[in-house]
Amino acid sequence: MNAPDKLFAAPEPHVMKTYGRLPLALSHGRGCWVWDTDGKKYLDGLAGIAVNTLGHAHPKLVPALHDQINKLIHSSNYYLVPLQEQLAAKLCQLAGMSNAFFCNSGLEANEAALKIARKFGHDKGIEKPEIVVYEAAFHGRSIATLSATGNAKVQAGFGPLVEGFVRVPLNDSAAIEKLAHGHPNIVAVFLEVIQGEGGVRPATIEYLRDVRRICDERGWLLMLDEVQCGMGRTGKWFAHQWAGIVPDVMPLAKGLGSGVPIGAVLCGPKAADVLGPGNHGTTFGGNPLAMRAGVETLRIVEEEGLLANAAAVGATLRDGLERELAGVEGVIEIRGQGLMIGIELERPCGALLGRAAEAGLMLSVTADRVIRLLPALILSHDEARRIVAILAPLIKEFLAHPE
Ligand SMILES: Cc1ncc(COP(=O)(O)O)c(C=O)c1O
Repeated sequence: MNAPDKLFAAPEPHVMKTYGRLPLALSHGRGCWVWDTDGKKYLDGLAGIAVNTLGHAHPKLVPALHDQINKLIHSSNYYLVPLQEQLAAKLCQLAGMSNAFFCNSGLEANEAALKIARKFGHDKGIEKPEIVVYEAAFHGRSIATLSATGNAKVQAGFGPLVEGFVRVPLNDSAAIEKLAHGHPNIVAVFLEVIQGEGGVRPATIEYLRDVRRICDERGWLLMLDEVQCGMGRTGKWFAHQWAGIVPDVMPLAKGLGSGVPIGAVLCGPKAADVLGPGNHGTTFGGNPLAMRAGVETLRIVEEEGLLANAAAVGATLRDGLERELAGVEGVIEIRGQGLMIGIELERPCGALLGRAAEAGLMLSVTADRVIRLLPALILSHDEARRIVAILAPLIKEFLAHPE
């Protein structure tokens, strides 16, 4: 087994050391498989952290992107961008929402959401609007989104934080009702439907319905960060759809472009007209290449029935893990939905990242103790069984011999 210091060696003297990286570089991929520069093959259980929705080098996506690159990569938001309207209309149809703003990443989508919430408050005469956020939440690493994030490690060293956030525990409706009494300036509730970086922790269906009701009763915006759990990963287009609710604001990113950088914030009627000309913008946001990637991703997901695949293959993966890890001491819980699965262990398990890579499997470890699987939505049942066959013995071996 690799020693931890070898795993996190950084043979990149000119790259800022903001990441602890495994000492391997990927050269190419096909479907759910990737190869490193030494020719070693890996089963990709991570998909670039929920990004490669269609796996690697998808035979329908690649020619479409070639076609777009040949036509126009970038124009400018000074002009009409027909592909923006095409993608916005499709996303709104799938989400039951009204309009979209396009940007380039998850944190940017969340920044737009936060600006919408604040301006929504100002438009109502609330000068110091407050936004309800959550313990263990993750919304990004800009100053505003790290302030909304509920993780002291992410915030350490970057104070003063942005004010105007009030924090509650997840899945505790009484806590949010109680908070409402002392905080007349609340304008929005902002949460991940399944907390990703926080350890694959789902909001319950009852809680989501409660929060929708509370927002309606009080005139607050319900803003659901679906950057990680959205885009079909749970077996529905958006994870909140399992609760039969519709948010007022929904940031998206990651899987929307199948690897081409993209972000979007969708708004329903309560929020659709909050931002007007001059209120928000970004040079790259909504460029034709990213928009084409989004349009084609949605088309291919539909054509290939990948929502149903995510649900069915996710069940195979989860059932397999539950079967193989049943009764194993040190496995606390297996949770998640569809192809977003977390396995919580009783102890920190970052070392499993390197051990899994050695065994030919890509995965992630988050919140110190949670092994996280976020494979492409094209994963097959056989590949799911292969993940179980590699991972279950690794977990057992790790729990028996953590060092
Ligand atoms: C729920 C959620 N929101 C926002 C972000 C930030 O996205 P990005 O890294 O694209 O800025 C992430 C990234 O992991 C995320 O999981």
